Amino acid sequence: MAVGDAGSGARTAKMIVTIDGPAGSGKSTAARKLAARLHIPYLDTGAMYRVVTLAALEDGLDLGDESALYALAVGAPFELDCRPTHVRVTLRGQDVTEEIRSMRVNDSTPYIAASPGVRQVLVDKQRDIARRLGRLVTEGRDQGSVAFPEADMKFFLTASLEKRAERRYHELLAEGNEDVTLAGVLDNLRRRDLTDAARSVAPLVEPAGAVRIDTTHLSIQQVVEQMIGHLRCAGLISAAEAADASSPAHA
Ligand code: DC
Repeated sequence: MAVGDAGSGARTAKMIVTIDGPAGSGKSTAARKLAARLHIPYLDTGAMYRVVTLAALEDGLDLGDESALYALAVGAPFELDCRPTHVRVTLRGQDVTEEIRSMRVNDSTPYIAASPGVRQVLVDKQRDIARRLGRLVTEGRDQGSVAFPEADMKFFLTASLEKRAERRYHELLAEGNEDVTLAGVLDNLRRRDLTDAARSVAPLVEPAGAVRIDTTHLSIQQVVEQMIGHLRCAGLISAAEAADASSPAHA
């Protein structure tokens, strides 16, 4: 799998920041904004599970066939281009960045995410990407707990179920899904929470040593400011970077 240039200038220091949390907690937006502010790449690990799902669907694989899924993941017919402001995903040379967000892929991804073989391959790839990029913000369900337990800073984002459903509902509408209802999204999230937390392989857990941020009543801007504050307090970013981050120009 290929990874894009970090675009992080001459800095060579290593810094891994993990952001985990349930669907709708705001972690994807927070990860993107934090990475953009710090001018370092971000890794959307959900996109990795989604692109393997799309590949499995295209190949007509049985989503319960563990050895076929493992072979598919090892073959890695996909690439992620990790930049500070976006991640572009290609599958067998085709840009599938949008397609991996479709309901078809959405609904099948939990099967792929429950495959121990696929998880092992993808976690190895995530570590490989981190080694190559040096500094990154990585986001998912198991980044601070499984992939990078020694991360420099771990965040765990939460929010009430109702707030998460509201956010997800607006996202889906913005993506052009016109037939979604708030009640349907809430029900879907409630079920996803249960599957994510109850699955035997890498269930969603709050990583040891993580900074927990409840985003229910916070704007994304406030979430990022809190993260910047924690990174600054831990001495992971300079005063200049922290000040830069609070500039309205970066809102
Ligand atoms: O964050 P997302 O909605 O794009 O994630 C897609 C799916 O992949 C979702 O079912 C959770 C799963 N996932 C996971 O199990 N581990 C990760 N590190 C990232 C995502």
